[in-house]
Amino acid sequence: MKRALLALLWFSACKLPDVRPQAARNPAQGIVFITTSLKGYLGPCGCSENMRGGIARAAFQISQAHDEGATVLVVDSGDALFGSETLTEEAAPQQKRKAQALADALKLMGVNAKADGPLDLAAGKDFLDALRLPPLREGVSVLDIGPGPNAPAVGVITTGEPARLKELAQQARDKGARLVVALYQRPLAEAQKLGMEDELGVDLLVVARAPGEADAETNKLISSKLPIAQAQAKGRSLLRLDVYDVGADGAFVLAKGAAEQERELEAIDQRIEALRTQVNEPGLAPQLLELKKQKLTEVVARRAAIAATPPTLPRGKNAFTVRFVPLESSMPELPVVRDVVTRYDRDVGKLNLQWASAHGRECPAPEAGQPRFVGDETCRDCHEAAFPIWEKSKHHDALATLEKKGKALHLDCVGCHVTGWQQPSGVCRIDKLEGHGQVGCESCHGPGSNHVEDPQKSNIANLKSPQVCVGCHDHENSPSFDFEKYLAQITGKGHGDGTRAEGKKPAP
Ligand code: HEC
Ligand code: HEC
Ligand code: HEC
Ligand code: HEC
Repeated sequence: MKRALLALLWFSACKLPDVRPQAARNPAQGIVFITTSLKGYLGPCGCSENMRGGIARAAFQISQAHDEGATVLVVDSGDALFGSETLTEEAAPQQKRKAQALADALKLMGVNAKADGPLDLAAGKDFLDALRLPPLREGVSVLDIGPGPNAPAVGVITTGEPARLKELAQQARDKGARLVVALYQRPLAEAQKLGMEDELGVDLLVVARAPGEADAETNKLISSKLPIAQAQAKGRSLLRLDVYDVGADGAFVLAKGAAEQERELEAIDQRIEALRTQVNEPGLAPQLLELKKQKLTEVVARRAAIAATPPTLPRGKNAFTVRFVPLESSMPELPVVRDVVTRYDRDVGKLNLQWASAHGRECPAPEAGQPRFVGDETCRDCHEAAFPIWEKSKHHDALATLEKKGKALHLDCVGCHVTGWQQPSGVCRIDKLEGHGQVGCESCHGPGSNHVEDPQKSNIANLKSPQVCVGCHDHENSPSFDFEKYLAQITGKGHGDGTRAEGKKPAP
């Protein structure tokens, strides 16, 4: 069954263009891929150009590794299935469907063991059990790398208690593990406290928890006595270990890549980040954009080629390497897993509409004296001049953008692509978006009923700071946000150039 599945993965992968130079036969006996803190992400939202991530891209990388001749193992370190520890009633249908899709994807990727974090339990333990992912609940799993005289078994342990690491590592070794990887259920700062420990029997500590938005933003390999690895959260990068057993006695050591290669990779990563920022500059001419995107694709391919260069291994020692595989948007997706995501996208709209028509409720009214949303057309009466500028901006088509992607009914998406989502007198039902389907005047200026009744500067928001923008233009969705540059794109003659004095005074 498993073999048939792998053959299927391999077959589907073969039809795709190869992004890497033909995989050299890898002298490693085993390759272990670890997904960390997926946090309910099947892929990036696509709000900016060239966002990293995507479970179907991860699956492609894994399927390709099968060609290298080593046994491939896949482990999830936990916090994969949901984005929060609890679900609102409204979010439950979509989020459970997504967890199902993630579980299906992990199974197609051949997941051998999965640790559980609080983000896997948002829908309860019974729900999790029903997904039938290979659990790592007792904290230890020993994964065989397979036949052959030098076939080390990899022990995978999971705990959030530093005091238990040693005991679990010993259990794994008792069961035959030669290399022990700990999925440490604590954030990086706490993992680092263990950096000087070399008596735990653990060969690599993988940071399995990234509770905050700012956690696990970057890939990190810390070569302390006990090596520590953290891969980007939300499925943006995969963690990859290659295991080389030369049959020597003694512990496995972390083989460092040649210093020159590491420096080259570091430089190229900086170049990639710089290009990504350039590609996202608002108002870039289409031709220039294409050129920059092409360049980015080239640089990404070059990085993959450099990263694939075989490492220098320490002589006469058992060793492993740690690599990060950033999942760039120019990388291919594995079709069978892509299909899982497509089916999810298709189902979600239906599920959310069903829920809304059965249980949906209007937003509450604002508190006494507080303004209500009145809609863009009401502003037109007095601020006609602002309209041409706004109508030309992307804000005007924000919901249409989601419609084109088939995601206008996704609760993960609408919040920033409409006006007044989940705000008093705004819009709280996915089946009633009509009339709110833009980032309208009141998205930035705030609800306007008081101002319309009695136009004053004091009862409508004037925006001198980026504060209102970053509610939507946050680090994840708009990583290149720069207030001055972005502001210039939404203002112009008639809007934000001081012509408000022309706002008609209401008839006395
Ligand atoms: C937290 C707010 C937020 C959420 C949630 C959000 N978006 Fe966006 N989206 C934005 C912002 C801000 C931009 C503009 C980013 C920029 O150009 O810097 C954007 C832009 C886009 C674009 C246009 C990209 C382009 O090339 O013009 C697409 C497509 C998109 N989002 C899709 C989605 C999808 C699909 C989801 C749900 C999975 C989603 N968004 C969720 C804020 C959000
Ligand atoms: C009945 C006419 C009228 C309507 C309707 C109206 N405004 Fe105004 N608006 C004015 C007038 C007049 C001023 C100038 C007030 C002043 O200078 O004291 C103004 C000023 C403003 C300002 C500048 C505030 C400042 O501090 O400089 C903004 C922003 C604004 N309006 C936004 C809106 C928005 C958004 C809407 C729709 C929700 C809207 N207005 C609807 C008449 C109107
Ligand atoms: C309610 C959420 C929201 C707020 C508030 C918001 N934006 Fe946006 N913005 C978006 C979305 C969504 C898009 C993408 C729309 C699309 O492409 O369909 C976007 C796109 C843009 C773009 C076009 C980017 C590009 O790549 O061309 C600019 C510029 C922009 N916003 C500037 C601003 C500024 C400046 C502010 C604050 C004064 C602001 N936005 C406030 C949601 C918001
Ligand atoms: C993306 C956020 C955003 C949206 C959407 C938006 N505005 Fe503005 N608006 C601004 C900013 C930023 C300023 C400039 C504030 C400043 O420079 O002091 C501004 C200024 C204004 C002013 C002050 C007059 C002027 O020209 O200086 C008026 C009036 C106004 N907007 C009305 C509107 C109306 C009407 C709409 C809808 C058609 C709208 N705005 C949509 C962000 C927005």
